[in-house]
Amino acid sequence: MGTVSTSAEAPDTDRGAAPLLQMKRISISFPGVKALTDVDFQTVSGTAHALIGANGAGKSTLMKILSGAYNHYEGEIWIEGKPVHIRTPKEAKDLGIQIVYQEVDTALISNLTVGENIMLNRTVHDMGKRQLIRWKELHEESAAILAGMNIRIPSKKLISELTLAEKQMVLIARAISTQCRILVLDEPTAPLSHSETEQLFKLVRKLKGDGVSVIFISHRLPELYAICDEITIMRDGRLVKHGRMADIAQSKVVEYMLGAKMEQQFPHIEREIGEVCFDVRNVVDKGKIHGVDLHIRQGEIVGLAGLVGAGKTELCRAIFGAAPTSTGEISLKGKVLRVHSPHDAVRQGIALVPEERRREGVFVAESVSVNLTAAVLSRFSKWGSWLHFGKERQASRDMIQRLGIKTPGERTKVGNLSGGNQQKVAIGKWLLAEADVYIFDERPKASM
Ligand SMILES: Nc1ncnc2c1ncn2[C@@H]1O[C@H](COP(=O)(O)OP(=O)(O)OP(=O)(O)O)[C@@H](O)[C@H]1O
Ligand SMILES: [Mg+2]
Repeated sequence: MGTVSTSAEAPDTDRGAAPLLQMKRISISFPGVKALTDVDFQTVSGTAHALIGANGAGKSTLMKILSGAYNHYEGEIWIEGKPVHIRTPKEAKDLGIQIVYQEVDTALISNLTVGENIMLNRTVHDMGKRQLIRWKELHEESAAILAGMNIRIPSKKLISELTLAEKQMVLIARAISTQCRILVLDEPTAPLSHSETEQLFKLVRKLKGDGVSVIFISHRLPELYAICDEITIMRDGRLVKHGRMADIAQSKVVEYMLGAKMEQQFPHIEREIGEVCFDVRNVVDKGKIHGVDLHIRQGEIVGLAGLVGAGKTELCRAIFGAAPTSTGEISLKGKVLRVHSPHDAVRQGIALVPEERRREGVFVAESVSVNLTAAVLSRFSKWGSWLHFGKERQASRDMIQRLGIKTPGERTKVGNLSGGNQQKVAIGKWLLAEADVYIFDERPKASM
């Protein structure tokens, strides 16, 4: 009401202090893609900074440059008002820059303990000098780090016994166990439940209090508004807006991201809802599901909600023939189906799209086209064995356009696409299968 805000969290860029981090006119290209063009980005210590943009906008690439993953970019990086050299991960770490990538599983060694993983960098480093690991010290130190972050995970527990959320906490613990001034979290909440997200936020607030600059990538706007002080919005590899979170309304953020109003980009389409066509009765899987019925009408989207452990994933798996101990009756368009395996399900028009794309959804080393058509290859083969490449290519191109998959072409390796675009490929694969029923399942979440 006309008064000047004196919030302790307010960034002090306008008061003349040099920002902790400045990335200046950053550009980078990959074969066929100009991923970033002249991007400016800056953060202040003791604040959380939201980095947002549509799939393929360049968020992860900008942060990978900051963490030393690429050496072929143009532009400059400054820390505390001085230019620095960051072209390798070690150079970034030595400057106190730590990143937690989205692919949590690949970043930890699952048959080692929590403590060993947290102390990994130092253990390897020390080994050269001493040739000896002091186990007691190692676990005491890692336990102290975990306790300092209010994380209740025993240091001696094996990584393979942890939930995904716990693994992510271990990664963050590892990142901040060494000197950390800038912490990048790339979509950390995507696999987390509500309470796990709350726990992560507590940690982020504590880090802010300790003077760390946290950069937070997420597609969930309410979360960003809950913990971030500043926001940078990107579109098509360029910076479109930087400001204080409090000064930009959520609807404006979406507009900046899309370059158009939400309603223009995604107009409301009326659909006629038909008769019940997918009928599921009395699904039972001992101890997990106790007699569930679903009656789904043609053209209908049905949401399946419930707390962690309520049986949502188990129900999806049972319908898809992936739960051998389950029983129940399923009929599609009046015909009773026999579904004893996922193969039976797919053959009869049921598709399941899992959330965890890296492990189950796509082959990252294969092209977009191979991935899209993998589930329906028989449709593109002549006389049973010859592949009709022209048809395959056309079908892939149509799907790329239909889903707006951002890729230089259908032959690009899926591993080179942005995270969200990889997910679109996983979905496109099943859309090409032209199933009658699509089940979209979130990754099963375990509570902490
Ligand atoms: N190593 C690479 N090789 C080729 N192209 C790449 C590579 N890394 C990124 N790209 C391309 O750069 C663009 C930006 O990708 P980036 O992963 O930064 O997007 P993002 O904003 O993180 O998207 P998402 O929200 O989907 O994670 C994409 O078009 C992507 O295909
Ligand atoms: Mg990304």
